[in-house]
Amino acid sequence: MTNRDLLNLRHEFPILDQVVNDEPLIYFDNAATSQTPQSVIDAMVAFYHQDHANVHRGVHTLSERATQAYENGREEIARFVGAESSACISFSSGTTDSINKIARGLIEPRLKHSDIILTTRLEHHSNLVPWQEVCKRTGAQLKFMDLNQDFQVDLKSLATKYDHQPIKAIVIQHFSNVLGVEQPIQSLSQWAHQQGALLIVDGAQASPHTRLHLNDWQVDAYAFSSHKMYGPMGLGITYLAKEHHDTCLPVNFGGEMIHLVEDQYANYKQAPWKFEAGTQAIAQVIGLTQAIRWIESIGFDNIQSQEQLLGRRLYHGLKELDDIILYTPESAMSHGIISFNIQGVHPHDAATGFDQLGIAVRAGHHCAQPLMRLLETPATLRASLMVYNTVEEVDRFIQATKEIKEFFTYGT
Ligand code: ALA
Repeated sequence: MTNRDLLNLRHEFPILDQVVNDEPLIYFDNAATSQTPQSVIDAMVAFYHQDHANVHRGVHTLSERATQAYENGREEIARFVGAESSACISFSSGTTDSINKIARGLIEPRLKHSDIILTTRLEHHSNLVPWQEVCKRTGAQLKFMDLNQDFQVDLKSLATKYDHQPIKAIVIQHFSNVLGVEQPIQSLSQWAHQQGALLIVDGAQASPHTRLHLNDWQVDAYAFSSHKMYGPMGLGITYLAKEHHDTCLPVNFGGEMIHLVEDQYANYKQAPWKFEAGTQAIAQVIGLTQAIRWIESIGFDNIQSQEQLLGRRLYHGLKELDDIILYTPESAMSHGIISFNIQGVHPHDAATGFDQLGIAVRAGHHCAQPLMRLLETPATLRASLMVYNTVEEVDRFIQATKEIKEFFTYGT
């Protein structure tokens, strides 16, 4: 992309054009939530202005228009993630909700006492605690796969330790929300299926940055969120491979997911509608559909080359400074999720210092406490980038890091 294109693209995000604490805003908290382009905001406003009605419930024109936009959205999302059909896509309130539904509806009914679920110590709590709960209820065991020095699953150790064990599922993040590390999804899928296990993936951090081919990769279930990929908050997406549509049980029950209701009995619609009880986040689906069109209008090649450029510049810029502890491995820097600490400065103090300079970053355990224990720190600073960030912002961030270090360590 040329500088001119990037400048235009940035102007599509009204929120980025503001001053915070007398400084131009630098938004580097994109892994927490990304910002939303005007075209996505416009699509949702147009829905509220013209078509706002509930879906699947009315024969009136507004309801039909809303239903058509909602179901078209499902089709576009299915194509975007490489699903076999739109029936593989159902909606939830977010990645956390999707993972809980997969845990209860797809995996729990298959588990016997002493079966094994494999995961990693990198997981976000939303892809760990639901599995702990499933294990408590069934007597299954949660075990942690070994990682290599780049924090990826060590595939050799996996085969040595777990071949022919009663593995029922591998549950894993696609990209780490703390380190940006990408896991070898296709190799894990192959190995899991040889063991008769399913592969469940938390894709919250990957979906805005890389093209997904979920059917080709033979992923069994994949969860992600609209708000991490330029869309609105309050909408999650559950991808479920076709072969599981009949066996996966609904977890929520109520209006519109049913076929027939008698006094003591009800039966349910087929997937995906059996997974969508109650009124859904219809405006958000329309917003996400527009966000996907926006991503495709830029193209993943352009998105990735810009994010790689920024991620590498940020990583190397921090590495050249004294007293910086980098947690993101070099092999993952191009995903633009860089975790670090400034020696002698508490990450929350540093994050407050960044805010005083107009820079938004996240500090804390990032909902990944087992990973913090592995990294031997209670918390990190995390700068996370998106295609609309710029080289100038990265350079300003490096300079700000120096200033913060000097301020907090003055006289020590
Ligand atoms: N999961 C989000 C993050 O890592 C909220 O910040």
